[in-house]
Amino acid sequence: RTKVTLPQLRAMKERGEKITMVTAYDYPSALLADRAGMDMLLVGDSLGMVVLGYQSTVPVTMDEMVHHTRAVMRANPAALVVADLPFLSYQASVQDAVYNAGRLVKEGGADAVKLEGGRAMIPMVRAIVDAGIPVMGHLGLTPQSVVQLGGYRVQGREAAVADRITADAADLVEAGIFSLVLECVPVDLARRITAELPVPTIGIGAGPDCDGQVLVYHDLLGLFDRFQPKFVKRYVNLGEAIVKALEDYREEVRQGKFPGEEHSFR
Ligand code: KIV
Ligand code: NA
Repeated sequence: RTKVTLPQLRAMKERGEKITMVTAYDYPSALLADRAGMDMLLVGDSLGMVVLGYQSTVPVTMDEMVHHTRAVMRANPAALVVADLPFLSYQASVQDAVYNAGRLVKEGGADAVKLEGGRAMIPMVRAIVDAGIPVMGHLGLTPQSVVQLGGYRVQGREAAVADRITADAADLVEAGIFSLVLECVPVDLARRITAELPVPTIGIGAGPDCDGQVLVYHDLLGLFDRFQPKFVKRYVNLGEAIVKALEDYREEVRQGKFPGEEHSFR
């Protein structure tokens, strides 16, 4: 496979060809996701919850994001790799935003960055894009501000909130985003925004009408079950398979069945 490009993603939207994206946080997950033919990989700050065990994405640091992005890039994926700017790495100033987006690209090796938020983040988006770094937006349920949003719940059921998300999407495009994640918004709102925007929308809990879809690797593979949002489809329960394999190993060691003759040197 040759490297996925931004014009290809735009062309996919125009052709009505769905764009596929999944999170990846390390070398093996990036290898497998790329082998599966994903168009984009997201080094999401969700890694804080599903691989580092934090209670939310808020504690995730820049150093952690760089560390995981580097591991993903060692798989040399053909998929376009987007790395999340973690909480407080871009909100305080335009200078922080450019510097930290630059770290994800320069130290991490990411192809693009993603940040959460609308109007207030426009100067940051513009400056990062001006520095030559592609930016993906993220509206709707933005987990870095989950307390302010009143919890992990659907955003944009009320007309005023829906109008604000729609206006934010247009402003982000004007500021130069190449794509937009819509998380946990009603189907109709996602469809309307997708139809209005020239750039691809990538949905998660945003219905079937977005230009593409993203899911968290550990959610779709059954490797994380502290909670399961309605929008997750679990395609396989690897967690169960792993526990079973580990129990089998433990049992065989205890019974003296492993290692066998074929695993031993004479
Ligand atoms: O961090 C993440 O995994 C994300 C996706 C849910 C869009 O931001
Ligand atoms: Na994220």
